[in-house]
Amino acid sequence: MDYQHLIEEVYQEVQEENLRGKVADYIPEIANVDPNKFGIALVDLKGNVFGAGDYKEQFSIQSISKVHTLTMVFKAFDTKLWSRVNVEPSGDPFNSIAQLEYEKGIPRNPFINAGALVITDALCSKFEKPIAQLTEFINEIAGDTCVKINPDVKNSEKNHGERNTALAYFLKSFKNFNNPIEEVLEVYFSQCAIAMSCVDLAKSFSFLANDGYSIFAERQILSESNARRINALMLTCGFYDEAGEFAFRVGLPGKSGVGGGVAAVMPHKFSIAVWSPELNEKGNSVKSIKALELLTNKLEFSLF
Ligand code: DON
Repeated sequence: MDYQHLIEEVYQEVQEENLRGKVADYIPEIANVDPNKFGIALVDLKGNVFGAGDYKEQFSIQSISKVHTLTMVFKAFDTKLWSRVNVEPSGDPFNSIAQLEYEKGIPRNPFINAGALVITDALCSKFEKPIAQLTEFINEIAGDTCVKINPDVKNSEKNHGERNTALAYFLKSFKNFNNPIEEVLEVYFSQCAIAMSCVDLAKSFSFLANDGYSIFAERQILSESNARRINALMLTCGFYDEAGEFAFRVGLPGKSGVGGGVAAVMPHKFSIAVWSPELNEKGNSVKSIKALELLTNKLEFSLF
């Protein structure tokens, strides 16, 4: 398979469609990003990198970081985790608070903000220096790279973090939050403000395409069955109330972020990251989703 030719073709076709959306504006620092950026990077299981467009440029990974924190916490807590967070799609927007009340403080899944806050709380319980250890972990699985937290993005979100702060207090009222709220929010806003390129991001997802083994870190990151579980969660919950649509159109486990990134895996074949800042009304990147749809159409295979 000529992956380079494939993604160049996908890149061109998406550009020709001139699809538009709206850059996330509730994090002002992200609203300043050039909306025309567009990059694709595919990494095969030998570590070969294929890229098109702005694939080497760093962007804010936002919610995609929830996969990295879940991986660290899953390894540390294993099945104990699932008493604090469920594994069901929510059918609600990523920042919704409604279900949390009638489901008694147990978030539907680890990828909506409420669930991700529980995961970051668990990260803070297990790791002494959660932010440093998280970036260290990402650097390792992304192939000895050097990702940075963008302080402007972090502070920008922190200054407009009323919704996430409310979610954290709500979780605490149900006793599903163990660490000081400010401390956990600091880690959460920092993880969301991690800047990575499509190449780094695709590499950091490679272990999920490879039964839990990272060819970049040269070690087993998660057991084969736990890696499969993260893929199942990405497929059913990775795009919030658009998870069904993504499975229908693309058919790969993946995770989006409001920075416009999408990372996805084709198990036993490759991992891929796409970035384009303009989002649809569900908070997912319009061009990134279109690119992945074209890719699996052209490949004539997906998870299914
Ligand atoms: O917590 C937030 O609202 C953002 N830092 C992340 C949300 C996000 O990326 C949702 N994804 N599409």
